[in-house]
Amino acid sequence: MLAGKTILLMIGGGIAAYKSLDLIRRLRERGAEVVPVMTHAAGEFVTPLSVSALAGRKVHTDLFDLTEEAEMGHIQLSRSADLIVVAPATADLIGKVAGGLANDLASTLLMATDTEVLMAPAMNVRMWLHPSVQRNLAELRGQGVGFVGPGEGDMACGEFGPGRMAEPMEIVAAIEARLTGGPLRGKRVLVTSGPTHEPIDPVRYIANRSSGAQGTAIARALVRQGADVVFVTGPADVAPPEGAEVIKVQSAVEMLDAVRSALPVDAAIMAAAVADWRVKSASGSKIKKVAGALPVLQFEENPDILATVAQMGEGRPGLVVGFAAETDDVVAHATAKRSRKGCDWIVANDVSPETGIMGGDENAVVLISDSGAEEWPRMGKQAVADRLVERIATTLGLGQGG
Ligand code: C5P
Repeated sequence: MLAGKTILLMIGGGIAAYKSLDLIRRLRERGAEVVPVMTHAAGEFVTPLSVSALAGRKVHTDLFDLTEEAEMGHIQLSRSADLIVVAPATADLIGKVAGGLANDLASTLLMATDTEVLMAPAMNVRMWLHPSVQRNLAELRGQGVGFVGPGEGDMACGEFGPGRMAEPMEIVAAIEARLTGGPLRGKRVLVTSGPTHEPIDPVRYIANRSSGAQGTAIARALVRQGADVVFVTGPADVAPPEGAEVIKVQSAVEMLDAVRSALPVDAAIMAAAVADWRVKSASGSKIKKVAGALPVLQFEENPDILATVAQMGEGRPGLVVGFAAETDDVVAHATAKRSRKGCDWIVANDVSPETGIMGGDENAVVLISDSGAEEWPRMGKQAVADRLVERIATTLGLGQGG
């Protein structure tokens, strides 16, 4: 609930502005006061009348408005809120704040405030990936600006990729986590994700088909619930979650080092698809192709990161969660894996090709814990993550693993 909280909502000029209308409704349903500010460009996408009708108050648009300035100065406006939310945050608004520019009401308010700022970026995928935008984002992150999204998917401009504004309910959750703490506030949680790349020589490696989607969704859900998340990821297909501390690694050995350096944590969620073997004495120079002679690779076992953390004795996280991707006898294999590895829970799934789960958007999991096997219905990977994180929050709240 957001009763008694005031949110200064800045609507930037992008097609995603239509989602901000719904955002206003959702915030007011939860008891928040919404003070709307629109850039002039936002007015090309939604009308001030709709915004004002939904917010139940006047919309601020002009920097040089004498009546407004007499009623409430823009400095005061920027400081009267508990949180400033910029949705959609366009490349232009992000760039202005990163560059210290203030030439309209929205950018002036952002420059003149000491209130916490949360941005929901929305832009074309090429713009999002542009080095200038990425540099500006890094600058703002460094200043403590929070971000929610963008998501990946089909965009209004017809392209596909990161740049889609987070859905209103995701933004609401991020706001609630900031203003009401979130159930995992103060908890430090480690997530491993993605595949590992095991080098053969400087240009070749052995890998697997993990996309990192499930691990990223879990980390995102943890951030939303207020946790401090350390996200250790191999070379994944999906972008790492906003708001987490991201450590990028290549091999299993590097992943173990990164995991050790992240400890101590309250919980460790090991979703990475770690390679079981690495090439023994990988070549320091590119192996030459020699006619008629095939190279012979010798393997050695990689460290089991999950088992190492689960069995570490002193300093062991209160809750250690492993994953099991199986193709047959899912529950039996995963139950055996849980006791072999020494972790508290195993999230098991059937990755037979006909399930379409590996690399797909959905997952059907069985949660194996002390109390047996619990089958969850098939749902989106983010929904699996949200439900798992809810369970993690309850368990950590009770001060126990298992
Ligand atoms: O043994 P298996 O690979 O099936 O176990 C899967 C679980 O163990 C996952 O949680 C995975 O992240 C973890 N694991 C690990 N280090 C390895 C192999 C697996 O942490 N070397």
